[in-house]
Amino acid sequence: MRQPFIQITRLTKHFEMGGQVVRALDGVDLEIEEGTFTVVMGPSGSGKSTLLYLLGGLDRPTSGEIAIEGERLDQMDENALALFRRRTMGFVFQSFNLIPSMTALENVGFPMQFSGVAAAQRGERARGLLDQVGLGNRAGHRPTELSGGQQQRVAIARALVNDPKLVLADEPTGNLDTSSGSAIMHALSDLHKAGRTVLVVTHDPRMTRFATHKIFLLDGHVVSEAEYETAALEAMNVE
Ligand SMILES: Nc1ncnc2c1ncn2[C@@H]1O[C@H](COP(=O)(O)OP(=O)(O)OP(=O)(O)O)[C@@H](O)[C@H]1O
Ligand SMILES: [Mg+2]
Repeated sequence: MRQPFIQITRLTKHFEMGGQVVRALDGVDLEIEEGTFTVVMGPSGSGKSTLLYLLGGLDRPTSGEIAIEGERLDQMDENALALFRRRTMGFVFQSFNLIPSMTALENVGFPMQFSGVAAAQRGERARGLLDQVGLGNRAGHRPTELSGGQQQRVAIARALVNDPKLVLADEPTGNLDTSSGSAIMHALSDLHKAGRTVLVVTHDPRMTRFATHKIFLLDGHVVSEAEYETAALEAMNVE
């Protein structure tokens, strides 16, 4: 039987907080095909980041299954998961997460230190990736010497060093003004056009223009676009 690139089955993530259980994800089933650009939308607290973190192997599910190319993330031990993550995924976060003391070039090359690539090759590859995101002329700048949009493009370049099949981005434009945000969306769209599978959490409706698929989350459940819009309208009427 043909399997989808990503298959998520009955996925739950519960957090215990002061004797109460928060059901961040409450039984999610999803299939994502290779080469798609999926946008995940939902109100604050609906479970978007939790879903992305579980998919990226940065956290563990409470129950349920996550398979990427048939490999079960939920069954891997920490070492296997770390290796799989390094081989398969690139992450982009809202807050860029660059290392302040390193230049753009060093930030991009940093993850390669752990993959046995020689220093000269690391530099060359990092430079190529900076060029790709339009920052070849900022290689020697540290994060404080770059605009927010430029920092995020460095983060995108860094996410690509291990040539990941899957790129996960959690509100990558959340800290940016409109025009910088637009540049980031185009950069992510370019990755998709180059054949990568891209999954982006966003509040930004403009992002859906690039998407081949949309996922809507409400209270830890995947819902249809119609249900999502009904809920959004109801929320507006309450205010
Ligand atoms: N480490 C944690 N411990 C306890 N509760 C958590 C934890 N992480 C998330 N939650 C809870 O799980 C729910 C989903 O959180 P999540 O961060 O996935 O939401 P989100 O959709 O990404 O929201 P936002 O748009 O604000 O980023 C929230 O109610 C949150 O309070
Ligand atoms: Mg979030």
